[in-house]
Amino acid sequence: MLRGERVTLRAVERRDLERLWLFWNDLEVELAGGGDPPQPLSLQRLRERFDREAREGTLDKIDFIIEADKECIGECGLFHIDLAARHCELGITIGEREYWGRGYGREAVKLMLDYAFRVRNLRRVWLEVHAANERAIRAYRACGFVEEGRMREHVWLAGRYVDNVIMGVMREEWKASLVGDG
Ligand SMILES: CC(C)(COP(=O)(O)OP(=O)(O)OC[C@H]1O[C@@H](n2cnc3c(N)ncnc32)[C@H](O)[C@@H]1OP(=O)(O)O)[C@@H](O)C(=O)NCCC(=O)NCCS
Repeated sequence: MLRGERVTLRAVERRDLERLWLFWNDLEVELAGGGDPPQPLSLQRLRERFDREAREGTLDKIDFIIEADKECIGECGLFHIDLAARHCELGITIGEREYWGRGYGREAVKLMLDYAFRVRNLRRVWLEVHAANERAIRAYRACGFVEEGRMREHVWLAGRYVDNVIMGVMREEWKASLVGDG
């Protein structure tokens, strides 16, 4: 369990799935995140995936529930963990929209970076974000991420094409951003 001032990151439990199912089926949340094209996802499918992963385990990813005010407000995780090159991808979704823009996402990302660099000894954390997602990009920059590349007009965002931005933070940059935090 990773504890911040207002945010706790903890393991996903089966009882969380109904809440995650609501987030996954909220079109506004999905379009804000903008990864794969949104499509309805059944609770049964989520449960099957959870049960399979609980049974078989997962080596290359770690999922967390984001908890604030004792509620699950979203999920986040580290994926594609490459232990040879020591990097991983980071993903985050705050599904409770009233929690957007209040610093919760930034706190969760900082907790994951601390875990990735200090606890898991990784060297680089990267992510993908569509260029119209200013809120996310500002939060990531505040955590030390810089733009590393851009896939032009890569994302179809319900009516227009937008760039897909690749961002990353190296361990040394993360350390420097901690000094910046005071
Ligand atoms: C992206 C996300 C994790 C960011 O977390 P958050 O708690 O909302 O972000 P923070 O409050 O830490 O930071 C938001 C920043 O964007 C700014 N911001 C807030 N609302 C904004 C808006 N509508 N447009 C542009 N910027 C905005 C804030 O001022 C802040 O920047 P600043 O500190 O430089 O002033 C969260 O909003 C979320 O989960 N959104 C939906 C799914 C998603 O986009 N996932 C990411 C996919 S890559």
